[in-house]
Amino acid sequence: MGLHQKITELKKQKNAVILAHYYQVPEIQEVADYVGDSLGLSQKAAETDAEMIVFAGVHFMAETAKILNPDKKVLLPDLMAGCSLADSCPPDAFRKLVEAHPKHVVITYVNCSAEVKALSDIICTSSNAEKIVNSVPKDVPIIFAPDKNLGKYILKKTGREMLLWDGSCIVHEAFSMDKLLKLYKEHPGSKIIAHPESEGHILETANYIGSTAGMIDYVKKHPSEKFIVATEAGILHKMQQEVPQAVLIPAPAEEDNTCACSECAFMKMNTLQKLYDCLLNETPQIEVSEEIRKKAILPIERMLELSK
Ligand code: 13P
Ligand code: SF4
Repeated sequence: MGLHQKITELKKQKNAVILAHYYQVPEIQEVADYVGDSLGLSQKAAETDAEMIVFAGVHFMAETAKILNPDKKVLLPDLMAGCSLADSCPPDAFRKLVEAHPKHVVITYVNCSAEVKALSDIICTSSNAEKIVNSVPKDVPIIFAPDKNLGKYILKKTGREMLLWDGSCIVHEAFSMDKLLKLYKEHPGSKIIAHPESEGHILETANYIGSTAGMIDYVKKHPSEKFIVATEAGILHKMQQEVPQAVLIPAPAEEDNTCACSECAFMKMNTLQKLYDCLLNETPQIEVSEEIRKKAILPIERMLELSK
């Protein structure tokens, strides 16, 4: 029996649900019960009645699922699957900033640790960041962390006063403007679609800017076109499945690598074998202290409420 079938049988036996992000390798996406963006995954985690959640994504995503489901086992196939953006915001340094600005509302992108969530007022993702920022009364200043690129993009869109944390995603900052322009010349008329974690100059070239789910929806609305896709290359699998006739070209990264596209080394730490092993052995598990969890759940619940 192949791994895919073994995982399918095991998850039924254990009443487990497999939630996967679009950046996971295709074989993981294929075995998952749900594949989505960070908001969709949080919503699924909040509503699941499965006894066990296997999170095929990175640590902060599984941690968010655990915060929402303290009594369930939440498993992550590889505990080392972190995130450069989450790492760029150490809780102690963030606490100092928050304490120095008591009048600011603290909006934090979901790509951060449970400790940082516990210091926040509202969580957001790339699909609801604008809405969350606009939910704060106009005269109230905002701290926005940790992604400065998403922060700058939302600041421009909303015109709000926002103090930005200086964090970023190594994958989305790796796109090369020169190579992108060269690629566009080779494919004139193609539509550039970009994730808002990308740098401002890349976003300025884009016909559409949005979360991974938003990018897939945009391609679905323009099924016969050619797209240059500026986000992690794992998204191409689901995008192509959804819109088989679209031509999809990954945006090029500065560094030459094997696929000439951008891959998140953290997301790619999960493999089908590790997914099977973790479901079988029920480890590694995600744990969050009750003290942090009680504080961190409030801003997550505010986000879920505002995203209905
Ligand atoms: P979304 O899927 O929410 O757009 O987030 C992208 C990302 O970088 C996740 O780590
Ligand atoms: Fe973090 Fe970037 Fe990887 Fe997403 S793509 S998990 S933001 S490092």
